[in-house]
Amino acid sequence: MNYKKLKRRLKKPWQPYNFEKIKSQYATLYNIRLKEKKDIIGIRKAGRLAVNLLNHIEEHIKPGITTNYINSLVEEFTKKNHAISAPLNYNGFPKSVCTSINDVICHGIPDDTVLNDGDIVNVDVTPILGGYYADTNKTFFVGSPGKDAKKIVSVARKCLQLGILQVKPKNRIGDIGYAIQRYAESQGCSVVREYVGHGVGFEFHEPPQIPHYGKKGQGIPFVPGMVFTIEPMINLGKHNLHVLSDNWTVVTDDGSLSAQFEQTILVTNNGFEILTPFD
Ligand code: MF3
Ligand code: CO
Ligand code: CO
Repeated sequence: MNYKKLKRRLKKPWQPYNFEKIKSQYATLYNIRLKEKKDIIGIRKAGRLAVNLLNHIEEHIKPGITTNYINSLVEEFTKKNHAISAPLNYNGFPKSVCTSINDVICHGIPDDTVLNDGDIVNVDVTPILGGYYADTNKTFFVGSPGKDAKKIVSVARKCLQLGILQVKPKNRIGDIGYAIQRYAESQGCSVVREYVGHGVGFEFHEPPQIPHYGKKGQGIPFVPGMVFTIEPMINLGKHNLHVLSDNWTVVTDDGSLSAQFEQTILVTNNGFEILTPFD
């Protein structure tokens, strides 16, 4: 056997062993559960469903519908596809989807509120399919957007894209927040601090936390098999917020518009794979 062949043979048993070693290190050190091939296949399927669900909802977004109607679309579509909505009853959340309008940052509860021309509405879905979770959200225009709506939605979308581009082995979690904060603030917008991205897949929210602000080169290094969300919430005004008396709805203190996009991301050997591929 020539030397190249021998090296290749030796490499093969080494790679799975190495993954197992890193997997147990990440579990012990950070409480992070790395995903293996069968898990990734499962989360990818849940992710496809989540994107199909967002696309289905988008077709129905127009002035005059209520957020309860969006909730009913989510329930019907999820059931038809043999999945379960993770938000329903999660820590007491009463509906199957979060719908966040204008100055609502996140966790808006569907109700009889009617969408008006010029509003922006974020729809955040998390189906569980075959036991695996995929978490994704998008902010939609209702009718024709004004100047502020166009701006905040475009900045938030770009923030997610810039965050995703930081994901590759050897980079660290802090690189995501750094890239997002730098761009958001360069546009005169601000980044929400109190709510962050998170590990996902086996459960709705797993370690680690993924802040959307921070410093380059800080935090846990990415390794293949990590699955987490990036979901920057970007405000047109200041970052300060408060929670309404329903104990869920999060709104900007200054009443300014807030937009968000979220995707579930896998760290691969040389970069990332988006498990909820939209856009
Ligand atoms: N989907 C949200 C997230 O991106 C969490 C919503 S929690 C709920 O993490 F209870 F409001 F559904
Ligand atoms: Co999330
Ligand atoms: Co979400």
